[in-house]
Amino acid sequence: MTIQFLTNAETIQAHQLQGFFVGWPNPPSPETHLRLLRQSDEVVLALDQETGQVVGFVTALTDRVLSAHIPLLEVLPAYQGRGIGRELMRRMFQRLQGLYMVDLACDPALVPFYESLGMQRATAMILRRYEHQAGSVTPSARA
Ligand SMILES: CC(C)(COP(=O)(O)OP(=O)(O)OC[C@H]1O[C@@H](n2cnc3c(N)ncnc32)[C@H](O)[C@@H]1OP(=O)(O)O)[C@@H](O)C(=O)NCCC(=O)NCCS
Repeated sequence: MTIQFLTNAETIQAHQLQGFFVGWPNPPSPETHLRLLRQSDEVVLALDQETGQVVGFVTALTDRVLSAHIPLLEVLPAYQGRGIGRELMRRMFQRLQGLYMVDLACDPALVPFYESLGMQRATAMILRRYEHQAGSVTPSARA
């Protein structure tokens, strides 16, 4: 298996984004997934060159001055445990180098994974609007 890493989604089409958001009751469609990838400030994608499918991705939103937030990281189940998640994070940290703050929220089970990448445990506060889990109009479009 050959994995290629991309730093934008310009050449990606929705049909290459299948099987993500595992366990989400109301997941974004591949089209919505593609939109969020393109609208993120930074993205790293893992592409299986044999199938042409995206098999992992990480996104970041940043002010490009002090801070960045990493909202989404996922590797397809069949590709997990091969170092792809770690490599996506390593490459994203490179893209965010020079920033003071790089933050994310995660489940307790993933704390060792992120600690091994140099992050430290903290308390996060989150707000979830489950009626919008599939993605909807952008806040600016609703204003
Ligand atoms: C988290 C995730 C992206 C890791 O991707 P991956 O490609 O399997 O990660 P790697 O192969 O690089 O594994 C890195 C290490 O993290 C560990 N790890 C991965 N997922 C873990 C989990 N859910 N719980 C505990 N440890 C985990 C692995 O055991 C591995 O440890 P090792 O290097 O000592 O063997 C992947 O499990 C995933 O997509 N999970 C579902 C979505 C998710 O939870 N995303 C994170 C949101 S904060």
